[in-house]
Amino acid sequence: MTEENFIPYESYKNIEHGEIKAKCSSNIALVKYWGKFDMQLPANPSISYTLTESFTETTIKFKKSDNFSVKLYLDNQIQEGFASKIYTYFRSIKKYLPFIDNYSYTIHTKNSFPHSSGIASSASGFGALALCLMNMSELLGESNTKEFKLTKASFLARLGSGSACRSIYKGLVVWGKSPDIISCSDLYAIPFPYEISPIFKEIQDTILLVHEGNKQVSSSIGHSLMKEHPYATSRFKQASKNLSEICKIIQSGDLEIFGEIVEHEALTLHAMMMTSSPPYILIKPNTLAIINKVWKFRQDSKSHLYFTLDAGANIHLLYPEREKGVINSFIKNDLIKYTENGNLISDRVLF
Ligand code: PMV
Repeated sequence: MTEENFIPYESYKNIEHGEIKAKCSSNIALVKYWGKFDMQLPANPSISYTLTESFTETTIKFKKSDNFSVKLYLDNQIQEGFASKIYTYFRSIKKYLPFIDNYSYTIHTKNSFPHSSGIASSASGFGALALCLMNMSELLGESNTKEFKLTKASFLARLGSGSACRSIYKGLVVWGKSPDIISCSDLYAIPFPYEISPIFKEIQDTILLVHEGNKQVSSSIGHSLMKEHPYATSRFKQASKNLSEICKIIQSGDLEIFGEIVEHEALTLHAMMMTSSPPYILIKPNTLAIINKVWKFRQDSKSHLYFTLDAGANIHLLYPEREKGVINSFIKNDLIKYTENGNLISDRVLF
């Protein structure tokens, strides 16, 4: 599909007001998207697991109005900064939703995870918004197949926050052009289109909250620093290679190589931050302490416990459900002390 496919040509019903709702989960990338071109087009393909327990729920009330406006409440607290971001976002997607500025909007949104937890809410947040907007276009008379609705939701979510386009689907999701993946696109994400070895369908994710609160450098700045980055070209090549590799592994079921790629990707993401100009560091001493403990535990126990990181200090621990017992005891006895407030989120992947 091309961008043209997302521009509707129908006329919409004249509806005065209404309400739409949607829920969308966060995701954790295995091969990371880091670096982009205009219009949130990714510099390399990525793949992620959509989580289950970490989600955003959004309700939008819309009312016909000559004054297009957005009011936004997060956990019932008015958020002016967020509202103005969403206002700009809505404006930017008018081409794809021509009715958008004929209304005023009151948005109520809440996350299942604490706002201060440092868990990125932009993926689940823009995912939920995009799904709401697709529900709204249907209410106004657009008739779409379920497949197209999700594809367009993914396309719209991408324009809000790149990684959000992957949150539209459950399970394993791929975004970005890759010669090894059939029908993938830079414009939207698709569910992993090949067979998935059963071991990769029962993955748990325990998120250790090493640092709660906002990170010092936003992802948008991080992406933009990749433009002049001395290692950008090799990083983009490496990500594409890792994606091809992990796609084969997901089909064949080799957890060890999976873990190797996933950890390497996490460390490379942070290496890019540390070597950009200006450099910055988002991981904390306790992030490193946990990584070393995980490596030692794996060596001693032969468990399949692997870590990954997003753009922050928190650690995602990935492991198969069948090893939950021993791994959860290890987390409780040896790792939880490295979190800021003894907080963790037990999440998992559902297909
Ligand atoms: O979607 P953004 O612009 O917030 O970028 C997110 C980038 C990472 O989370 C670090 C990696 C990824 O692929 O999700």
